[in-house]
Amino acid sequence: MRMTDLIAKKRDGEALTTEEIRYMISEYTAGIIPDYQMSAMCMAILLRGMDDREVLDLTLAMQHSGDILDLSPIQGIKADKHSTGGVGDKTSLVLCPMVAACGLKIAKMSGRGLGHTGGTIDKLESFPGFSTALTEEQFFENVNRHGIAIMGQTANLVPADKKLYALRDVTGTVPSIPLIVSSIMSKKLASGADVIVLDVKCGDGSFMKTPEDAEELARNLTRIGRLAGKRCAAIITDMDQPLGFAVGNALEVREAISVLKGEQEGDLLRLCLALGSCMLTEAEFVSTREEAEKMLLDAVHSGRALDKLAEMVSAQGGDSSAVYHPELLPQAPVVMEVPAERSGVVSRIHAEAVGLVSMKLGGGRATKEDVIDPRVGVVLHRKLGDSVARGESIAAIHAADEESARAAVEMLRSCYEFSDSSVIRPPFIRKIL
Ligand code: URA
Repeated sequence: MRMTDLIAKKRDGEALTTEEIRYMISEYTAGIIPDYQMSAMCMAILLRGMDDREVLDLTLAMQHSGDILDLSPIQGIKADKHSTGGVGDKTSLVLCPMVAACGLKIAKMSGRGLGHTGGTIDKLESFPGFSTALTEEQFFENVNRHGIAIMGQTANLVPADKKLYALRDVTGTVPSIPLIVSSIMSKKLASGADVIVLDVKCGDGSFMKTPEDAEELARNLTRIGRLAGKRCAAIITDMDQPLGFAVGNALEVREAISVLKGEQEGDLLRLCLALGSCMLTEAEFVSTREEAEKMLLDAVHSGRALDKLAEMVSAQGGDSSAVYHPELLPQAPVVMEVPAERSGVVSRIHAEAVGLVSMKLGGGRATKEDVIDPRVGVVLHRKLGDSVARGESIAAIHAADEESARAAVEMLRSCYEFSDSSVIRPPFIRKIL
């Protein structure tokens, strides 16, 4: 088999066979097929597409390019969740303990963030002592004993995706549905859960900018997941403004705790109820999403969801007293308010730009080597549709020093737009598939 022939075949719009796809992925992972040939193939796939059989073959070939986690030592049904990423997305910190408190096992591998803010792992590391570097045995034992564990991705999980994603990033081939689906689903399949729930974001703060594109991605993700034998559901949610109020690692943990305490309603809680009810129904714990929501809300109001977070933090070496006393979490020495320059109704918050403010403050990474400052970030006081009078604070900047705080105040101001009339918010949950 020759890679040149396969590139020409896809360029001409033909389907690749299972053997050809397996050959391409194994030789590329082994460093035999060079990046320039794989770049041409990615572009041919982006332009010509792939049918379901090809996408499934590509997903499975990538899944098998490295370690596969066999979760069979964990009793019962195991659930996992994936988000296509957004600003202020602390969903896993709320959703996972809530669902585990209902008795469904959460066995989740998460990544670190590159860009705006940290990933779930970075956020969890705001708890002093918390470790996500679990061995497989510790991971299995924690899920069996506590019903929940979140660990960092093992180094050799889907190595094909690590190479391919880096290549796509610099060759204009990220926005291809077959490539996105195989990238996401290969990692989910290699992580071994039985139930996979996907949160597909659309809008400014995400990489699917329109609801139509987000729905197409969501339909493809769930179809391939089901063809691979998993129980899958997807939710399409709006990311035209940051999720919740906090953007930045320890600040997001504090917000998650407040939702788990039942102190905060709004988009974050609604999203966690929707995702959690998909998980519980797919796992056949209950038969309707309404019953599932009741169960999840009961876990919050009874305090069991918060206790479950504390149990997980403690089982992974962290100081669980910070769950009940969030003031023990790392705190920035400088907090500076951002006064509105005019009166009006918030008509737009550029989510991606808010993420960049947090990153500039030290809350995210520009390169893999950067060290995250868990203390810093932004807390929004006004969201879409809220009114504000000139001089009132629209947000607070949490910074390591006065100079970076002042620079962030200016940057944050330009993230907001105002209108003189009322603003209709688009529905936050656009569809459940
Ligand atoms: N997230 C992934 O893991 N892969 C993609 O291709 C896009 C988003």
